[in-house]
Amino acid sequence: QVAGQMEQHRPQFHFSPKNNWMNDPNGMVYLNGKYHLFYQHNPNSTVWGPMHWGHATTRDFFNWEEQPIALYPDSLGTIFSGSAVVDVNNTAGFGKNALVAIFTYHNHKIEEAKTGLHQYQGIAYSNDEGKTWTKYKGNPVLPNPGITDFRDPKVMWYEAGKKWIMTLATKDRITFYSSANLKDWKRESDFGDKFGGHGGVWECPDLISFDVKGKTVWVLLVSINPGGPNGGSATQYFTGDFDGNKFIPSSTVEKWLDYGTDNYAGITWSNTGKRKIFIGWMNNWQYANQVPTKNWRGATTIARDLHLDQIAGDFYVRSVPVKEMNAYVKPVYKKKSLTLNKEIDLSAYAKGLDGKLKLDFTFNTTKSIEIVLSNKEGQKLLIGYDNKTKTYYIDRTHSGASDFEKGFAKKHSAPRIANTTNAKVSLILDVASAELFADNGLTVMTDVFFPESLINGVKLSGNGNQVINNLIISSIPSFK
Ligand code: FRU
Repeated sequence: QVAGQMEQHRPQFHFSPKNNWMNDPNGMVYLNGKYHLFYQHNPNSTVWGPMHWGHATTRDFFNWEEQPIALYPDSLGTIFSGSAVVDVNNTAGFGKNALVAIFTYHNHKIEEAKTGLHQYQGIAYSNDEGKTWTKYKGNPVLPNPGITDFRDPKVMWYEAGKKWIMTLATKDRITFYSSANLKDWKRESDFGDKFGGHGGVWECPDLISFDVKGKTVWVLLVSINPGGPNGGSATQYFTGDFDGNKFIPSSTVEKWLDYGTDNYAGITWSNTGKRKIFIGWMNNWQYANQVPTKNWRGATTIARDLHLDQIAGDFYVRSVPVKEMNAYVKPVYKKKSLTLNKEIDLSAYAKGLDGKLKLDFTFNTTKSIEIVLSNKEGQKLLIGYDNKTKTYYIDRTHSGASDFEKGFAKKHSAPRIANTTNAKVSLILDVASAELFADNGLTVMTDVFFPESLINGVKLSGNGNQVINNLIISSIPSFK
């Protein structure tokens, strides 16, 4: 990279590794003012390969500092996805407040022997805030019981039962394990073979809880590949109850955390108290190894605060960009009210923003609305709401490079979940990604796209004299 020059398609306020490949975010944990992010990383290539845990830290989810690699493959295997906890009570005996990572070993030699026993769980600990790690000599702590897909442990402290709970993806379901010391694990129960989407393998689960009017409601996030609502990989979730042994869903049908194609394998930070902060991998296995970036491949979504809302008697997760973002968003144009009886060109305000912006407004859902983002080549990303089908959409058909994968150039859509007449939308654009938070995050769509040059045009159109209110166009700085 030439100093001061932007790399083509490089996100400017999302995390992406300086070099080489990343996929899933792993082991996110908060400790002493810092949010740690580990991630599936191949330090030797821009395509998936022997997995390590890369490491980055931040205090605000925007200024990221890349750290040395945290976990390297060893004789037991390469290091697949997992989680990390602060062992406040020293249950494992690695020291008070030790960071303990719980991850999947993937053994490529055993995989070749086709016994199906190539994935099992190991742990490692750090007594210096994640700088250096020691693998536990008793690994693996959870051997493979004969299940080909046996991975992605997400561990949390279950206070009501004073024990650790591991939520593990086991092929077409989730298996819960419990432990007093992070070393000895007991199987509790299975969930899912008759629930939710089964278009692909289940991966990267997370079990979190919310307080809703004095009641605890549990949410189980489950990534699935393929089988997403718009193709390829995506993250479904279930709401229900958890009693330390079993997850009891309130409905058999899955809901989707994000209807776009590019938010996968996301989980939440641990040790953040009641605050639930989520980050996903902004990519899709359908084309992740082919996307046209040069020195690196993969980035994270914007970090999101998760909330739980009750709508028409059912619970829905609502995701919004973390509140830390407010410090960086600077309005460059504000308009109280605007009638769209013809297309309105706002490009004058987008011009100096270097392909990044935040756009906020409210509109009337009895009518349609469309945002057209474009560049000097005339490539276009269309984002809108269709009042006839009651769906939000992102259409990247003519948005730039797409020849790397035949299913990439497409229109994606998402149902509206909110039932109010007026809708509020926030759109976050960062060079090569668009994240749409509709209805305060009840319907979310995240899509990547690869325009030849930076987006510098913004137009709005609607039908039937659509009126939009509280329009704000904001700039967002570069952190690269
Ligand atoms: C999800 C996943 C995980 C696995 C990791 C390997 O994207 O397939 O299930 O642990 O990636 O890199």
